[in-house]
Amino acid sequence: MVTMIHYKGYDAIIEKVYATGNEHVFAFWDTLTDDQKKHLLQELSLINFNELHELFALTKKHTIPMDFEPAPFTRLPQTPEEHKAFDHAKTVGIDTIKKGKVAAFVVAGGQGSRLGFDGPKGIFPIGPVSNKTLFQIHAEKIKAYEKKFGISIPWCIMTSQANHNATVDYFEKHNFFNLNNDKVFIFKQNMIPSLNEEGKLILETPYSIFRNPDGHGGSLTALYQSGTLSKLLNLGVEVLSYFQVDNPLVRIIDPVFIGFHVKHNAEVSSKALQKAYPEEKIGVFVKFSNMRIGVVEYSDLPLVKQHEKDERGNLRYSAGSIAIHLFNTRFIEKIAQGNISLPFHVAKKTIPQYTNDGKNNITGYKFEKFVFDALPLTEQNFILETKREEEFAPVKNKSGVDSVDSAQELMMNLYKKWLLQKNIPVPKVVEKIEISPLFAVESDDLPDSFAIPQHKEVYIG
Ligand code: UD1
Repeated sequence: MVTMIHYKGYDAIIEKVYATGNEHVFAFWDTLTDDQKKHLLQELSLINFNELHELFALTKKHTIPMDFEPAPFTRLPQTPEEHKAFDHAKTVGIDTIKKGKVAAFVVAGGQGSRLGFDGPKGIFPIGPVSNKTLFQIHAEKIKAYEKKFGISIPWCIMTSQANHNATVDYFEKHNFFNLNNDKVFIFKQNMIPSLNEEGKLILETPYSIFRNPDGHGGSLTALYQSGTLSKLLNLGVEVLSYFQVDNPLVRIIDPVFIGFHVKHNAEVSSKALQKAYPEEKIGVFVKFSNMRIGVVEYSDLPLVKQHEKDERGNLRYSAGSIAIHLFNTRFIEKIAQGNISLPFHVAKKTIPQYTNDGKNNITGYKFEKFVFDALPLTEQNFILETKREEEFAPVKNKSGVDSVDSAQELMMNLYKKWLLQKNIPVPKVVEKIEISPLFAVESDDLPDSFAIPQHKEVYIG
């Protein structure tokens, strides 16, 4: 017979631990200090024990609906009518932005581990000449849009437990890159426990449970629970421009996209681009058999579908998601307040478990929510095609595809394209070039003529 441990004020949670067969988390109880005991009990108090068996059930059955076809989207303008529609959307978008109805939202809960970088990914240096970090580039873009539209743009930054303090310290140390720090909202996402192959909790240390951030799908709840959403609503923000920290080319405030979103009365809008090759690691937009629009993640798209061609020989599932969306703030409120929640996805992973012999790697399950699962919950949505070279330079890996080198190359190519559009010649000797967002956040902002110095590395700022 197992003797249950007791601790004043925590008996209800201790009972749940035993009732769900998780008492092994107290294996080191007798060796813990009082603070460590409290730490463990507080972590356990944050776990929703009623949810654990549902999470474990997900590991036994496939939950991604596979009955879908490609989603329709609005292509880049080709005909005069399409150009007219884009121009009109731009006017509507500018009007919405100038009324202060748009805020920016970056999900930055991830660490730079795939880059071999120990710290928040946003602090990774990416400026090809300046070495500016991802965060600095995003901050300067927001500053530039504020100047351009004569408004102040609130900026929400979602962190995770592992990088929250480092992120806040970084912004404080850099004086929020001269943004109004009253309108920079940095908040943490929730954590969710991983489970072992028997569906039980895993000890990470003698007094803590192995948990991971709940995925960027947790961002909608985190916006609400942190009080950020109500601050945005009080400021009159209606549209949240969502992007990932790892894309230095993102057009954070895009009048055309915002205009279409407003015109379509969409609750969520998304940007799409043509996949570069079948196995490219981006999700694809689909229409499920219930007519709802959604994204199927690259890892869930069967190989046959990845390679499927249409009658013209093009990839059938070609519209890739680059994780750029617009969310209506009232829609987020509805999701976060209501009893509909985004589903969890399961990943089988190697997890370091604490045992009597120190840490041992075991196989377990991690759970994450994906923000694009909000799409099927919308009544109205809109997908806009965009140009890869103008908006997408993912920084995922140390080398090779989607790496630091490829992202810097894409950034420099875009700056050269802007200069070319203005007929400003780039001297042959120039090997690296960078344009500061504070100088030009898009090609139109460049002056009509100026000379590029004859240097190997040129920074225009
Ligand atoms: C992601 C998308 C993929 C998209 C691609 C574009 C998912 C599941 N897939 O892939 O559809 O085509 O980007 O680059 O997202 N993050 C958090 N908290 C978390 C997890 C992630 O804030 O708990 C943030 C990261 O900091 C990062 C972003 O979400 O900004 C993407 O995460 P990542 O794990 O890099 O996703 P990918 O697999 O690259």
